[in-house]
Amino acid sequence: VLSPHRLREGARQLGVDVPLAAAKLLCRFAAQVLQQNDVLGLTAIADEDTFLEKHLIDSVSWLAVERPQAGETLCDLGSGAGFPGIPVAVLCRQTPVTLVEASARRAAFLRTAAAGLAPGVAVVEARAEVLGRDAVHRGRYDVVVARAVAPLAVLVELAVPLLRLGGRLVAMKGPRVDEELAAAGGALDALQAEVQAVHALALPFSGAERRIVRVVKRGPTPESYPRRDGVPARRPLGEARHGRKAQEPRGSGGGNG
Ligand SMILES: C[S@@+](CC[C@H](N)C(=O)[O-])C[C@H]1O[C@@H](n2cnc3c(N)ncnc32)[C@H](O)[C@@H]1O
Repeated sequence: VLSPHRLREGARQLGVDVPLAAAKLLCRFAAQVLQQNDVLGLTAIADEDTFLEKHLIDSVSWLAVERPQAGETLCDLGSGAGFPGIPVAVLCRQTPVTLVEASARRAAFLRTAAAGLAPGVAVVEARAEVLGRDAVHRGRYDVVVARAVAPLAVLVELAVPLLRLGGRLVAMKGPRVDEELAAAGGALDALQAEVQAVHALALPFSGAERRIVRVVKRGPTPESYPRRDGVPARRPLGEARHGRKAQEPRGSGGGNG
């Protein structure tokens, strides 16, 4: 069941304090997602207990190790039904949160949900490839967080352009992140970013393992990144192909770079 007390207890076991009022809001949000799930197809998790752990507690789990400081701006990239961005916005009231979502249907849901739960939250319906070239968003965020959006090599190209110098990407991953880390070297080099930490944690009830990867932006993002819509996922940076070096900037295909 969606019990605020169970939510608090689970989060507490991870070292994250969820005040009762926030826990109640989050359970209300969960009910809203589940209620609209049939129509909107927001999540594959229909069971309330699983939802509580795998969506709500998981969304705030990383705050135990990478909590933003008051006033730092945060972008949840590929927010979907609002994870982790909405639970984070509810818990971190001092953090201006922007939810970025490519799907119009999900962005519309996010707007309605956020208005009732965390009115300061901004929702932007856009693809990261476009936002990363938009002066309003490029280089603007202290923290970008993302869960289940893309392998690290792709995510780095989508997220790092949005960060200010010294800002960090918090990538929420599963236990098999080593392969992704090994494949992300080329993207990290190209984007002048560096993996600084990988935290391991386990969810409180199921014991499901998680990895929280912190990537820091070390230098300015070259003008050629992010590449055009869809290219980062189709041709991840650093991926060997046709014997050519993969880190080529985008071709003459334009852009406002
Ligand atoms: C698998 S869902 C995960 C949603 C949510 N982060 C979660 O963990 O429940 C991935 C979401 O990212 C969005 N997405 C994927 N690529 C994107 C991009 N390049 N720019 C913006 N959104 C993107 C998709 O529309 C989808 O809603």
